[in-house]
Amino acid sequence: MVAKLVLLALSVSTQVSNILSVRSGVGGIRGNYERERDTTDKFLLCYFIHNGQDGLHIALSDDGFKFDTIPGDHSFFKPEAIGEQQLFRDPSIVQTPDRTFHLVWTTGWTDRTIGYATSKNLVNWENARALAVFGKDVRVRNVWAPDISYNSTSNRLVVVWSSTLTGQFSETMASSENGLNHRLYYTSWDPGNLDNTIQPAAVFFDPGFNVIDGNLLQIGERQVLFFKDERRWPPMKTLHMARSSIEYPGPTDWKSGPPLIAGPFWAEGPSAILVNSNQSALVYFEKYAEVKSSGDDEENIAWINQLGTQWGVVFVKDVAKLQKSTGSDIHWIDLSKRLKMPPGARHGQIIRITHQAAEEVTKAAAIEVTLRKTEELEL
Ligand SMILES: *[C@@H]1O[C@H](CO)[C@@H](O)[C@H](O)[C@H]1NC(C)=O
Ligand SMILES: *[C@@H]1O[C@H](CO)[C@@H](O)[C@H](O)[C@H]1NC(C)=O
Repeated sequence: MVAKLVLLALSVSTQVSNILSVRSGVGGIRGNYERERDTTDKFLLCYFIHNGQDGLHIALSDDGFKFDTIPGDHSFFKPEAIGEQQLFRDPSIVQTPDRTFHLVWTTGWTDRTIGYATSKNLVNWENARALAVFGKDVRVRNVWAPDISYNSTSNRLVVVWSSTLTGQFSETMASSENGLNHRLYYTSWDPGNLDNTIQPAAVFFDPGFNVIDGNLLQIGERQVLFFKDERRWPPMKTLHMARSSIEYPGPTDWKSGPPLIAGPFWAEGPSAILVNSNQSALVYFEKYAEVKSSGDDEENIAWINQLGTQWGVVFVKDVAKLQKSTGSDIHWIDLSKRLKMPPGARHGQIIRITHQAAEEVTKAAAIEVTLRKTEELEL
């Protein structure tokens, strides 16, 4: 009992000093937002470059801040003949208990499909196909930014994405851009039996305005949703969170709150993970435009992603708060200055993988590089 008490006192004092160091923002900011020391997990970043013609890119990190590309820095997966426009943007990956990785991506700016493939080592992909998530519905104008997660209770993969359907939600059309007025939709399927179990697309989240880039963070039995307010007039283009009171469909009790990160820029592609023994969370995103003044006119906007890319990350210490909050009382700490992403990396997702999986992807990439060199020599 005594020993326990001493331990408790110790942990309280380290917590306090950690909080202080995070708040003060000076050197030695460590401990609190970092993953627990006793796990050997790695962080994996999946991303695309340019307009998404080059396929899947992968980088790894020990600490969630400094990401290095895998050997070769190639794209080992360039899906050809998947979708009409055959692009590869907005990748999202999840691993199921049988250790299979499931990947989804945006196949084009105006496609009606989601790209899907599976892999055991993140380098060699199979079962690649385009999923027509709305069937033959001709009202579908686009299918963007699928986010894949796994529900272990129901043994189903859940994909949330954004779409505009002609004639739907037309009362909120005025704030939209290029006639695109999205809501979040979802489907799910049994990973062992996609064809027979895939559900028809249904609305997942409708806050009453144009939203894209949904990302689900599972916290215990519950989940919260991160998303982008896509309204253009007046300009929003900010990232927000919504908690779920019930899981399906998505959040139904969303109240407008301040964005995750304020500042004179537009952001997209939020991607959240748990760290620090699942007590804390990091949310990564890409800043893609800088707004010089009030931001209503095109000339006031500098497009960052034409010059390069700029990533950001915010930290929240106590995830339990996320489940209870409407967002307004959450204190997000901006740790963007610490991030080091591969040059040119456009948005994608960050997930945690075991160190074995990280070793396997590194090894598989190195083998693939050697194979390619041999092929080149033989040609
Ligand atoms: C997972 O599936 C179970 C069973 O269908 C459901 O009750 C639960 O709400 C789901 N969990 C999440 C986080 O969506
Ligand atoms: C954190 O959550 C993940 C995913 O739900 C779980 O697999 C893992 O065991 C948790 N880790 C801790 C330390 O609770």
